[in-house]
Amino acid sequence: MSDSKIIVALDYPTMDAAVALANQLDPQRCKLKVGKELFTRSGPRVVEQLTTAGFDIFLDLKYHDIPTTVAKACRAAADLGVWMMNVHTLGGPAMMTAARDALAQDENRPLLIGVTLLTSMDEATFQHIGLTGTISDTVLRLAQLADQSGLDGVVCSAQEAMQLRTQHGEQFQLVTPGIRPANSDTGDQHRTMTPAEAVAAGSSYLVIGRPITGANNPMQALEAIEASLR
Ligand code: C5P
Repeated sequence: MSDSKIIVALDYPTMDAAVALANQLDPQRCKLKVGKELFTRSGPRVVEQLTTAGFDIFLDLKYHDIPTTVAKACRAAADLGVWMMNVHTLGGPAMMTAARDALAQDENRPLLIGVTLLTSMDEATFQHIGLTGTISDTVLRLAQLADQSGLDGVVCSAQEAMQLRTQHGEQFQLVTPGIRPANSDTGDQHRTMTPAEAVAAGSSYLVIGRPITGANNPMQALEAIEASLR
């Protein structure tokens, strides 16, 4: 298992494309994230293949359903051998606790992470669906519920990391996307932070996609990010 903080987002439509990119990376120097598109197209075998190649896999399927169903899905993900998985905190404490309990028996238990509010949720949508209060207070409350329900951490923006680190202590995992190395294209991400800024803010793991997957030499891009963290 690598001790890298860098999780490369394999946002590809096919297993071949995902494996081709992974083959250019070193499993000792990064972890990989498999999300909904790749998993829905390729199925569990993409996870099996990448795990066999030595990579730690973050299965980013953001489970959200009744507690029993989520618990069984988490169990299935653990049986696949993933290193990290996630659920929506909006599923509530009973759902999160059921998910945690489904993993409790494992000796090397996968990390269970909560998604608070999606960063695509703007103020207008937040009100439209009937949520009240502010987005930032809601994120903090959901993170609190995740912690109280025994989850290992949350996905959050690096902007939120400092406050969450203060409130939840060193053991709480903060997984932050929206990371852009200095001078790289921000693409559709807003309010980005550099890898070093995010780690300084308290981020435990950096989810980085296109700055690595879109580089001419992905391993070199990864090495440049590692260097910026030293
Ligand atoms: O290519 P890029 O570095 O923007 O990829 C970021 C990854 O993190 C994508 O897989 C995206 O879906 C995911 N993500 C995100 N923002 C969130 C949650 C997940 O960018 N709030």
